[in-house]
Amino acid sequence: MADSFREKYGPWALVAGASEGLGEAFARELAARGVNVALVARREAVVRGLAEDIARKAGVETRAIAADLSERAGLDQVVVETRALDVGLLVYNAGQSFIGPFWVTSVEDHLKEIDVNVRGPLVLAHAIGGRLRARGRGGLVLMSSLAGFQGTALVSNYAATKAFNLVLGEGLWDELRGSGVDALVCCAGATSTPNYRNSAPSAGDSAMVPVQTPEQVAREALDYLGRGPLLITGRANRLASFFLRRVLPRKLAVRIMGQNTRKMYS
Ligand SMILES: NC(=O)c1ccc[n+]([C@@H]2O[C@H](COP(=O)([O-])OP(=O)(O)OC[C@H]3O[C@@H](n4cnc5c(N)ncnc54)[C@H](OP(=O)(O)O)[C@@H]3O)[C@@H](O)[C@H]2O)c1
Repeated sequence: MADSFREKYGPWALVAGASEGLGEAFARELAARGVNVALVARREAVVRGLAEDIARKAGVETRAIAADLSERAGLDQVVVETRALDVGLLVYNAGQSFIGPFWVTSVEDHLKEIDVNVRGPLVLAHAIGGRLRARGRGGLVLMSSLAGFQGTALVSNYAATKAFNLVLGEGLWDELRGSGVDALVCCAGATSTPNYRNSAPSAGDSAMVPVQTPEQVAREALDYLGRGPLLITGRANRLASFFLRRVLPRKLAVRIMGQNTRKMYS
């Protein structure tokens, strides 16, 4: 199975936002499948250390790219630094989320969310996806969230950026059909990454949140790649999402999500 995965999506994968949490899990899982990985993050020492560790443990080649994906120059740097690598898979994982009432968060912070969560995946999907299309083989994974299915209080802008990834990724899946390139939107629910643990101290008290590990999410997403445009990871998340999207009236779904975030972040 690792051999066919590597043939389809190797020899190199680019993981944007890869120094910890879900990005680290994607990078380690890809390496375990025999794919070389280029890891992007801002913290140079951390991403370099991780790249070395993965190379040593998994016996694949790795590259560390220190770049800020919130800046156009950082995105262009990633495109240039990966030009010499035969990249077969892009995982755009980096995310920025400012939690709190919409008007308490500064407009600069809201725009930063849009830079990392919207402009970043758009620019890299365009550049790297274009290369994949020309080469006739590969994959593209965009990270969305259960929050992206409806408005969600206290993370209204973040949820909207995740809706962008959902809709962009589905459109690209259809545009790429028959091209040899698979696009996938990975919709995770609560996942125990350092960022999640730091930002949601009372999440453990919330009954509605079935927390997954980053390793579970990465494995499920990579297993599902090529099978459809959208994966909601975790059975409990799929069930919760089914009720929120298909059973409940939309305004009730929005209120339930809002209640949940208020409980988690208060
Ligand atoms: N955790 C959850 O519960 C959850 C649920 C649903 C969806 N998601 C989505 O899953 C993705 C990963 O989430 P996460 O919880 O692992 O943590 P995250 O804080 O969204 O991302 C962490 C990684 O992205 C890098 N990163 C962040 N901003 C960056 C920037 N401007 N430039 C370059 N790299 C940047 C970080 O490295 P540096 O700090 O070193 O730059 C780190 O490696 C996100 O897109 C998030 O929206 C997460």
